[in-house]
Amino acid sequence: MTEAAKLSLGAKETELALRQGTIGPDVVDIASLYKNTGLFTYDPGFTSTASCESKITYIDGDEGVLLHRGYPIDQLAEQGNFLETCYLLLYGELPTRTEMSDFTYRVTRHTMVHEQMSRFYTGFRRDAHPMAVMVGSVGALSAFYHDSTDITDPHQRMVASIRMIAKTPTLAAMAYKYHIGQPFVYPRNDLSYAENFLHMCFAVPCEPYQINPVLARAMDRIFTLHADHEQNASTSTVRLAGSSGANPFACIAAGIACLWGPAHGGANEAALNMLAEIGTKDRIPEFIARAKDKNDPFRLMGFGHRVYKNYDPRAKIMQQTCHEVLTELGIKDDPLLEVAMELEQIALHDPYFVEKKLYPNVDFYSGITLKALGFPTTMFTVLFAVARTVGWIAQWKEMIEDPHQRIGRPRQLYTGAAQREYASLDSRG
Ligand code: SDX
Repeated sequence: MTEAAKLSLGAKETELALRQGTIGPDVVDIASLYKNTGLFTYDPGFTSTASCESKITYIDGDEGVLLHRGYPIDQLAEQGNFLETCYLLLYGELPTRTEMSDFTYRVTRHTMVHEQMSRFYTGFRRDAHPMAVMVGSVGALSAFYHDSTDITDPHQRMVASIRMIAKTPTLAAMAYKYHIGQPFVYPRNDLSYAENFLHMCFAVPCEPYQINPVLARAMDRIFTLHADHEQNASTSTVRLAGSSGANPFACIAAGIACLWGPAHGGANEAALNMLAEIGTKDRIPEFIARAKDKNDPFRLMGFGHRVYKNYDPRAKIMQQTCHEVLTELGIKDDPLLEVAMELEQIALHDPYFVEKKLYPNVDFYSGITLKALGFPTTMFTVLFAVARTVGWIAQWKEMIEDPHQRIGRPRQLYTGAAQREYASLDSRG
């Protein structure tokens, strides 16, 4: 047991318990601070605040380490597959062969959505951003699956979890097909998770769709790389929404809304748009200068991270996957890749980026890869949401099953007007 922290306020001293995790920083338990001192802590952006206790994912930002239930992300991405990682995140252990077979069977047979779901899509404009469609359609699932919205029932919690993992790819593919004016393609139970997703996105009724195993493997690996990431903004959104008892479908819809932002999951779309705007290697210095200019809101999209102050381990695997996909497709001199690789080299040696520890993150290479796979930039964050659904659901389940769980309700530092009397309209001049 580690000793307590002592907080001295004038003559008064308050003891605050310290708690140790398995790995990573200890925490000062401040739950009793307000009661004992009348003080709040202040940490907008939660740069030094642990919002919960969790056993799912651990990141060491200085070492560039990402563990899911203790397993390094590179081993899971290179030796495992996405559904196996889903099982690991949900249940805490790698599955046996029998457990994997049963889990795959359950997920596969929940991939269809209620046929009336397709009517929601016809209400959207064809040029609606697919993320807008995903926020609406995932939230609408709670209007259909009433038999898995009772969060106090462990069976219903697991059914809802399986349904979310199984149906987000179908809804995402439907959003894409609707966006491009093609008919929806039903899921197929004889395909793997990634194969099925590519099939639902790119098959057309007029001819058989040939699955390319290299591309399917790359898609599966991209899903694994994006599966979970501690208490990032969208996961924290899902936890906060779930802390009120809201049903899991509504909580995941809230997570999708948060992920859409360009500072978060929207960065993969923004990074590719940035590379296209730069266009050629000779224009990189102009954009590097803009990124350093305090008066210019421009930032290098795909660079920097709240936690990683070393290379994002996912970015390394993403870069390898990017090269595999481009090689398989015979794309040799992709101008965007050339700009990306030159930009990365320049930024990694530029004092501004070195001092601020700004390295490429998972979003830097994913956009080039997804574009090569055939997805439009507007679908990039949708794919991130498909992958992150398992992380959101696993974190939501962990929170609901935590006996100490309470509704999340932060306080504030109030700097507005002190109390004053109402003034009538006539008296206001
Ligand atoms: C994801 O949290 C997660 O885990 C997220 C994620 C996940 O898997 O869930 O990893 C996915 O969201 C990855 C991040 C994708 N976002 C981007 O690529 C957008 C560009 N990056 C930045 O917006 C920024 O780096 C953030 C949002 C990612 C991190 O922001 P922080 O931690 O709040 O850092 P900051 O904005 O305070 O920046 C610190 C300094 C600032 O300079 P000073 O004010 O100290 O002088 O670094 C500068 C920033 O101006 N800076 C950048 C920069 N990122 C930070 N300068 C230029 N280009 C950048 N990309």
